[in-house]
This record gives sequence, structure tokens and C-alpha cells, in this order.
Amino acid sequence: MEGSNTQPPVAVLLGSKSDLDYGNETMDALASLGVDAEIKILSAHRSPDAARDFTRSAAGNGVKIIIALAGAAAHLPGVVAAWTQLPVIGVPLPTSELRGVDSLHAIVQMPGGIPVATMAIGTAGARNAALFAAEILALNDAGIAEALRQQRAELTRKVLADSAGLAAR
Ligand code: RP5
Repeated sequence: MEGSNTQPPVAVLLGSKSDLDYGNETMDALASLGVDAEIKILSAHRSPDAARDFTRSAAGNGVKIIIALAGAAAHLPGVVAAWTQLPVIGVPLPTSELRGVDSLHAIVQMPGGIPVATMAIGTAGARNAALFAAEILALNDAGIAEALRQQRAELTRKVLADSAGLAAR
């Protein structure tokens, strides 16, 4: 129902079932920060009406941020951004013969006026999309902010431990 917060704050959209490994990377990263999310397959080309209908009702249903992952002629993030004022994060995927350079260009080169925050190609982008969404939510959620702080501290600890391991050889 419109305005009744029936959906989690983050929606993760995939252009195809073949994008699922990357979508799971995003979902796992969100879960590791305690961020609730749902994942759906909505193709800009093969199910355009469903993509439009989901996106137009998302804000009214409690969605705060949309992450859209797609490969090849990756129109999903841009199409979604056209139908909503919610922040849209796009992840280009290396699922075609052009290994994601095609989808990077399709997602990053949005015309002025309709932004898509574009991440790196592939696994790093899929993970960073989750972290970026969490950073937005953390502006109003101390628990997510603390979870992000702890993950960064762990990254730092690991780098320093790796370095210390080299020095001890
Ligand atoms: C895009 O085309 C999808 O996001 C996928 O990455 C790519 C290939 O899709 P399939 O032909 O494998 O379904 O729409």
C-alpha cells in the first residue's frame, strides 16, 4: 500500500538472473552491516513495464535507495533513475563479450539532470554499492554508522597485519 513502508530500505535490482552472483555480493555486504534489503530481477529491455511499476511505487513503499546491477547495454540503472527521485546506485557488470566496459559507459554517461552514482565494474562495484548505500542510510542511523566504522577498522587492521607478516620473513 502507498506510503506504508512495506518494503525494506534498499532495493537491489538485477537486469537478469545471470547477474545473480553479483547481486548476492551486494546483498551479503548489506547484511554484514545490518541493512535490510530485497533483491529482484527487473529488466529494462525484457520487462520494462514491471521495472517502471516497481520503481514508481518504491518511495511510497518505504524504499530509500535503489541499487541496480546490469551488464551489456545496461539501461536498467538509468531507466530506474528516470522513474524515481530516490538515489540510484548503478553497478556495471562484466557479463558480455566487452567485459563490462560497455555497461560502464552505459551507466556512467547519464545525461545531465538524471544522476546515477556509478560504481566499479563487477565484484568490487557490487560490494561498494552496498557500502555506499549504507553510508547514505548512516546519516540517520547510528547503528549502521557504527557497523561501517568497525568494518573499516577491520580493513585497516588486516592491511597492517599483512605488512607486519612480510616484515617478519
Ligand atoms: C543485461 O544483459 C543483464 O543485466 C545481463 O548482465 C546481460 C545478459 O543477460 P542474459 O542474456 O544473460 O539474460 O540485461
